[in-house]
Amino acid sequence: MNVKKLIDILEKRGFFYQTAEIYGGISGFFDLGPLGVLLKNNIIKIFKEVFVDEFPYKIYEIEASLFAPSNVLKASGHLERFYDPIIECEKCKSIFRADHLIEEELNMNVEGISLEKMDEIIKKNNLKCKCGGNFSQTKEFKLLFKSFVGAKNDEIYLRPETAQHIFVNFLNVYNSMRAKLPFGILQIGKSFRNEISPRQFLIRLREFSQAEIEFFFNPNYEFSEIDFVLKEKIPIYKREEQRKNSNIVEKISIEELIEEKIIPNKLFGLFLLKEIEFYRIIGIEEDKIRFRHLLEEETPFYSKSNVDLEIKFDFGWKEVVGNAYRTDYDLKQHSKYSNKEIFVVENGKKFVPHVIEPSFGIERTIYAVLQNSFIENGRGWSYFLFKPKIAPIKVAIFPLVNKDGLAEIAEKIFKDLKKEFECIIEFKDSIGKRYARADEIGIPFCITCDYQTLEDSTVTIRDIATAKQKRLAINELKESLKKLI
Ligand code: GAP
Repeated sequence: MNVKKLIDILEKRGFFYQTAEIYGGISGFFDLGPLGVLLKNNIIKIFKEVFVDEFPYKIYEIEASLFAPSNVLKASGHLERFYDPIIECEKCKSIFRADHLIEEELNMNVEGISLEKMDEIIKKNNLKCKCGGNFSQTKEFKLLFKSFVGAKNDEIYLRPETAQHIFVNFLNVYNSMRAKLPFGILQIGKSFRNEISPRQFLIRLREFSQAEIEFFFNPNYEFSEIDFVLKEKIPIYKREEQRKNSNIVEKISIEELIEEKIIPNKLFGLFLLKEIEFYRIIGIEEDKIRFRHLLEEETPFYSKSNVDLEIKFDFGWKEVVGNAYRTDYDLKQHSKYSNKEIFVVENGKKFVPHVIEPSFGIERTIYAVLQNSFIENGRGWSYFLFKPKIAPIKVAIFPLVNKDGLAEIAEKIFKDLKKEFECIIEFKDSIGKRYARADEIGIPFCITCDYQTLEDSTVTIRDIATAKQKRLAINELKESLKKLI
């Protein structure tokens, strides 16, 4: 589906708005509308059910500052290495990401190659701007948003990921919570990157939300409690298939993934399985998911294993979750730069814990959900078919007519149900129009009070997925809806 059309629909129906739209908007920034907030909150609620409440190991949640002092980003490497390669057209002065240009023009993966090598490729293939101009040399463009703090204008940065504050707080959580390895720390919140070419709506933003878990463990720990993961299979897009440009995805077991050294241990496997579970619950089926083993050249030097969860969008496959085995790199870096010893003692042995990190992009997740739930009827009308659990509004209540006491009954039902579920009540227009409006924003259940309600205290309940109605007693509504949702 056309992205512009989708954005237009999402704006009209209250999901997303362009930031500062009345002033012409600003690229790479979006505001959530009321339905967008509800959808995001529901997705995060399920995320916490899967990764905190039902996770076999303890996960603590923190909420750190959006700002990071320069020392933190010096230690993490962001100050030095967090940039994109850019080139400028010498004639029209347009700026491009060199890697994207090469990828698009030559269908070549240039992840991880040097700026000089990119220049070579551009020259050798005689790549030129659309206006015919030659390109400048490839330069670094830093992605960090810099700001200043206090009367002395000290440098400070908007955090580019939520992860670093977790590492910086490792000892705080470990000591204050009397935590025991293995355990994880979760942070859900905003991250900021000054992307050169924000694009594809929610895919590449300058301000976006991440849900990141840094899971700390002793590298010798066996994880025998989760042996059950070993026989489970996941769809993996192996390096050799990527190099052949084939799209073959194999379903192989966690045990084999460990044997083939694609992932380091059972815990990594558990995260991959939980990710499939999470996306299934929010409406992305497994045939739209694959795990891509990153090529050697894409794998950060500090990581021993990187597997991205990719989702099939209308425009192709895209990373939505990055999984990395970051070893003890980050804790050691922060220890070095802060001059604070960071370690734990277990059975008299002192060591620095290792870390596995799943890092989720929330907006990309929302985009995947929206795209997967969006249905066009071919006659210019469209609606959303959300899983009831994540639908922003769960129930719409309509009196058939606004007389003979039906509106009063509907109001009473509304007041009662809204304590439990996100509900709306609507009196205006024909019942058909009200159903259509409810469908447009993906309300799974519509309740109508009609003349039979006056006789036997029952109402109709219509399910968006089947468009079928059945009758239910008013006093059974709440329990039935709870079950359905
Ligand atoms: N701590 C590791 C880390 O931040 P990443 O691959 O840079 O890894 C993780 O980001 C996830 O965050 C991505 O898989 C993606 O879903 C999301 N993400 C990254 N950059 C983004 C951007 N500019 N706009 C929207 N989402 C983004």
